[in-house]
Amino acid sequence: MLSVTVDDLRLFLHVLAATLWVGGQLTLAGLVPVLRKAGADVPRAVARQFNRIAWPAFGVLIITGIWNITANQHAVDHNSHYRATLWAKLGFVALSGIAAYLHARATSRKGLAIWGAATGLFALASLFMGIVLAEA
Ligand code: HEM
Repeated sequence: MLSVTVDDLRLFLHVLAATLWVGGQLTLAGLVPVLRKAGADVPRAVARQFNRIAWPAFGVLIITGIWNITANQHAVDHNSHYRATLWAKLGFVALSGIAAYLHARATSRKGLAIWGAATGLFALASLFMGIVLAEA
């Protein structure tokens, strides 16, 4: 058996939180049509409950993300491509969080759809940039 390292724990927590933030949103988006049939208020009630899981996961992503940066400090300090990719990723993470906040506050169907789609797309971009960083 391979020995389990602190780095394994760090990436495990980061990826676990990413599965909740990204995977949870995509799954919820797929369930909306059925939730709507269950009752007009059901989608919003389910989304409110999801937020109680999603936002703590987003918090864990930021905390473990900072831990990731300190664990890869050498690459951040000496590799301009790594640094540029990290800044691009942090941009997508911030946009994902802002879009999710605006989605939760949206009152029109159009606002819900636009900010919902934006949240998902920026979350997927953050995920992809994370893999690029990890493979660097
Ligand atoms: C929506 C938010 C985020 C998602 C979905 C996400 C996703 C990921 C994923 C999937 C990986 C690859 C893990 C692996 O393959 O080992 C990763 C790595 C990484 N993430 Fe994130 N992340 C997010 C937020 C953040 C934040 C806020 C930071 C910094 C403050 C950050 C910094 C990093 C770094 C530096 C790595 C490379 C880790 C390594 O190679 O050791 N991430 N991220």
